[in-house]
Amino acid sequence: ETADVVILGAGPAGLVLGNLLQASGVDCLVVERADAAQVRTRARAGFLAANTVRILDRHGLAEGLHRRGREHSACEFRTQDGRFRLDYGSLGRGERHTVYPQQELVTDLLTHYQGAGGRISFRTEAVAVVGADGSRPEVTVRDPDGRPSRLHARYVAGCDGRHGAARRSLPPGAVRRHHLDHGLSWLGLLAQAPPSLDAVGYAVHPDGFAGHMARTPEVTRYYLQYQRGQAADAWSEQRIWDELALRMGAAEYGALHRGPIVQRTVVDLESDVLEPLRYGSLLLAGDAAALLSPSAAKGANLAVLEAEILAGALVDDLAHGDARGLERYSAQCLPYIWRAQEFSQWMLRLLHGPSGPDAESLFHNALRRARLESLRTSRSQQDWFAEHYVGV
Ligand code: APR
Repeated sequence: ETADVVILGAGPAGLVLGNLLQASGVDCLVVERADAAQVRTRARAGFLAANTVRILDRHGLAEGLHRRGREHSACEFRTQDGRFRLDYGSLGRGERHTVYPQQELVTDLLTHYQGAGGRISFRTEAVAVVGADGSRPEVTVRDPDGRPSRLHARYVAGCDGRHGAARRSLPPGAVRRHHLDHGLSWLGLLAQAPPSLDAVGYAVHPDGFAGHMARTPEVTRYYLQYQRGQAADAWSEQRIWDELALRMGAAEYGALHRGPIVQRTVVDLESDVLEPLRYGSLLLAGDAAALLSPSAAKGANLAVLEAEILAGALVDDLAHGDARGLERYSAQCLPYIWRAQEFSQWMLRLLHGPSGPDAESLFHNALRRARLESLRTSRSQQDWFAEHYVGV
C-alpha cells in the first residue's frame, strides 16, 4: 500500500493530523496497533486547555466536546498548613479547561476522520521505519494476521507514543534525547464514583502526594504517590481509599465519594524531549516527540498543538511544493515543549518533597512550604500560575 503520509498511531496526535491532512486533500493512511474498540475506550487524560479547544474549533473537530465537555476553572491545594482554592478561570488570562475524557475526544476524531473517507488500518503494528534518511521511506508492518508487509510513503508521521516504532527506528546519534527520571511514581486510579470536590484537588502530605481530577459525573480520577516498583494491585481498595482520605484531609474537609476502583496503573514520572523532532522524512509528534510528567496535564494538549503545526507544514510541502514549514517544524515546536516541561517540573516540585529526616530534605520541604505560601498569598504568583496551568 502507498500513501503520501503514513501516520503511525491513532491517539490525539495521529488523529488530529489525519483529520487535517484529509480535509486538505492530502493522501494519508493511519496505522494503529490496537483494535477500534480499544482506541475508542482507553481512558487517559481529560483536561483540554483553552488553546486546544481553539485549535479543534478551527478545524470543526470540537462539536462533541462543546456538547458533552464541562468547563472547569478551579483547583484546591491541601497541605498541613490548611487549604486554599485558586479560581484560575478568573486569574491570569482568564482561561478555563474543558474536561472531556480523552477516549471521547479520540472517538470524535476517529468518527470524523472515517466519515470524511480517511483510511485507517487497525490491529496493524508498525515494526520499523526504513529509509527515513531518503525521500522514499517505508514502514514495515505486521497485519492483523501477523503477516509482514510494507507501506510506501513520502513522509512518515511518528505519533505512536513513547514506545512506538518511530522512536525505535531512529539511528543512534541521529536525534538527541534529553531525559529526566524524577524517581517518583504515581498510582493512577479511575473510580466509579462522582467527584468529591468541585475543583482539581492537590494534596501535599508527609505520606506523599494525592490528586483528585474530575472526569464525568460518574467517574473520577485519583492519583496517589506510590513506591517505585510496587505492583499496581499491591494495595486493597480499602487501603487506597483510606490513604486518599488521609492525604486529602477528608476528616477535616469532607468525606470522599467512594466507589469501585475500575482501573489502576502505575506511572513512573519521567520526562524527555527528542531534538530535533525530525529525521529526514520521519517527523515526530505527541508522546513520540516528548514525554511530559503528568503533573500538569500537558501531554494531550501539546500533541494537538504539534499535530496542527505538522499538518500545515505537510500540506505546504505536498500540495504547494513549499518545504520551509517542514524545515521549521522542530524549531517551532520545541519552545512550546520546553515551556510545558518547565511548568510540569515546577508543579512536580510543588507537589513532592524528599521524605527523609536529614537536613537537606528538611530544607527542601521548607522551600516547598514557602512556594505554596507564595501561591496562596501573592496575586502576581497566582496570575503566573493560571497562565501556565491552562496555557500551552
Ligand atoms: N504501531 C502502530 N500503532 C502503535 C504502535 C506501533 N508500533 N505503538 C503504539 N501505537 C499506537 C497506540 O496503540 C496508540 O493508539 O499509537 C497510539 C499512540 O497514542 P497516545 O499514546 O495517545 O499518544 P499521542 O497521540 O502522542 O497522545 C498524546 O495524550 O493522554 C495523553 O499522556 C498522553 O501525552 C499523551 C497524549
